[in-house]
Amino acid sequence: MTHLRINPSILSADFVNLQAELQRISTADAVHVDVMDNHFVPNLTLGLPIVRRIQEVSPLPLDIHLMIEDADRWAPQYAETGAASVTFHAEAAAAPVKLARELRSIGAKAGMALRPASPVEPYLDLLGELDLLLVMTVEPGFGGQSFLDLTLPKIRRAADAIRGAGLPLVIQVDGGITEETILRAADAGATVFVAGSSVYGAEDAAAAIASLRAAAGG
Ligand code: DX5
Ligand code: ZN
Repeated sequence: MTHLRINPSILSADFVNLQAELQRISTADAVHVDVMDNHFVPNLTLGLPIVRRIQEVSPLPLDIHLMIEDADRWAPQYAETGAASVTFHAEAAAAPVKLARELRSIGAKAGMALRPASPVEPYLDLLGELDLLLVMTVEPGFGGQSFLDLTLPKIRRAADAIRGAGLPLVIQVDGGITEETILRAADAGATVFVAGSSVYGAEDAAAAIASLRAAAGG
């Protein structure tokens, strides 16, 4: 059976106590780090110096989600921090194949993200260049939004294409993942689940991670 992964998003953590907040999620699979530039999305979070420091103190591998313009220019520098994976948005990359190859050559897994309104069809040919396809299940920019069911057919189409071509990449979902919604995403074909408010908003983050795993069926 496929291993289901839970990657809590520190967007919902206490940014002034990040080291302690990272310890709270040590039973997760990776820590999801949302980088926003106030251009690609109307919000601003953190950048390279803080990501480098998180990389030094985190007990978990880093799963970086870049919600920034000009990904071709910046994403390789995030890979150079030693992050396990770096995900750029298809809508913000001029040359996604070249960028994915560059990320892999640095030693990071290469991820590409799609906004809820972006179809997957134009990208089916480049799935072989990726380790991860992130299907956004809310409009990127903020935590605490509701899961968009209209993204489920896209997850299914991507999963069919991946299965059909025998590709090894995984589908990640991000946004509105709760005990209620996670099974719908898992049934559609996602195996990596980003959860911000449902983990960090819980009193016991480890229990919330365990409940999400159980609700997803793994
Ligand atoms: C939103 C971010 C998400 C966010 C998810 O743009 O990419 O990672 O933290 O938060 P929740 O799980 O609260 O929807
Ligand atoms: Zn994210």
